[in-house]
Amino acid sequence: MRKYFKKLPRKLREVISQASGVSQETRLPAYLVGGCLRDLILGVKNLDLDIAIEGNGIIFAQHLAQKLKSSLRIYERFGTATLILSDGLKVDIATTRQEKYPYFAALPEVSPGSLKEDLKRRDFTINAMAVSIAVDKEQKIIDPFGGQDDLASGRIRVLHNLSFKDDPTRIFRAIRFSRRFDFKIERKTLALLKQAISEGWLAKVNPHRIRVELIAILKEQNPFKPIKELGDLGALSFISTKLKIDKSTRALFKSISKQIAWFIKNFPARRQPDSWLVYFTALLAPLTLARMNLLISRLGLRKGEAKRVISYYRELDKLISSLSKKHLLPKEIFSLLEPLSYETIILVSATTPNKNFKKYLTDFLKVYNGMRLCVCGSDLGGLGVLPGPEYQKIFAKVLTAKLNGQVRNRQTEMALIRKLVRDK
Ligand code: CTP
Repeated sequence: MRKYFKKLPRKLREVISQASGVSQETRLPAYLVGGCLRDLILGVKNLDLDIAIEGNGIIFAQHLAQKLKSSLRIYERFGTATLILSDGLKVDIATTRQEKYPYFAALPEVSPGSLKEDLKRRDFTINAMAVSIAVDKEQKIIDPFGGQDDLASGRIRVLHNLSFKDDPTRIFRAIRFSRRFDFKIERKTLALLKQAISEGWLAKVNPHRIRVELIAILKEQNPFKPIKELGDLGALSFISTKLKIDKSTRALFKSISKQIAWFIKNFPARRQPDSWLVYFTALLAPLTLARMNLLISRLGLRKGEAKRVISYYRELDKLISSLSKKHLLPKEIFSLLEPLSYETIILVSATTPNKNFKKYLTDFLKVYNGMRLCVCGSDLGGLGVLPGPEYQKIFAKVLTAKLNGQVRNRQTEMALIRKLVRDK
């Protein structure tokens, strides 16, 4: 296993070495588990560490946080904790546990368990392996279900026949992993997956859990393929029966992906757009506004996310007709686009081939977006203007002049303010 550890970035190796020390001091056996071990074996970059502790994960996390001087979030009820390191690296620590499903598709009842029991409760063989992080001896991978073989031959396989009924969100996960790694879903697993869909088990899951898996899929590098596959299997009808995944969805997803890449390349310092939200909004196109609102509340999207989705559909017609015109003034472009989120702007841009439109969007993002004045209230106060509606009027005029390129810096803004106050 040491050969795999060697491939990790230095920072992660340091964390593992400190964790190994804590494991020795506290006598709490610690293991790398789940997706992080899977990716380590595959040689895929994964900057999060998942550590499972036999005994008490929270005590372990407290010791490790002290050593690493990192911040610590504790979830007492679940026996888990998350360390966030200064450079954003995340270490998830969990007490090993066993899970029992009181009935299919319910949240499991959780109790402490051995490492073996912890591996047994997991979704797929490739995610059900562990390796001790003790560095004093050569460690073997603990692999009770043949995960290494499945990794080597590119197979997604469940651990037992009831896996998709216990947790139907694994239907989404199976498709996501198989597309991400270009793996095949093993024959029997695929039959069980199809059976779980046709028996309607997804309808019994809390929709918030489906949202989590849907978002994870839309965050993938290429979300179209897994979404299409889920659509073909009939799994998306549990989100909405109106969703339609076809050739035009493929083209739209491609165009969105290009726009997002363009945005990130050209505006690295801006807030990075939530790419999943852009794809999600695009998927809702066949729904009426009323159905969208219903779905959004059923899935439990946050307020800000819901607002961005809905505002796209509310503004779309107005935006297309206004922005397709020739010769819009900068202040008109500004007032149309400034209230919109980057996600909305990206989606509008991805859906329209109109050249004027593209130019306005580029001008907006490159020049006008977030444009601020150099002058402020005290400058107006200094000229004897009392705070009130007059302030706003003057500032709006100066901003328009700035958008039109008539003033450029504090000096010219001040000159204009003086003139406006004089002519009042
Ligand atoms: N897991 C599971 N069943 C689920 C969700 C998670 O068994 N419904 C287990 C899997 O062993 C998984 C681990 O919990 O590896 C961590 O889950 P998560 O972080 O969602 O997945 P990762 O495998 O880390 O995948 P990703 O690379 O997408 O983060």
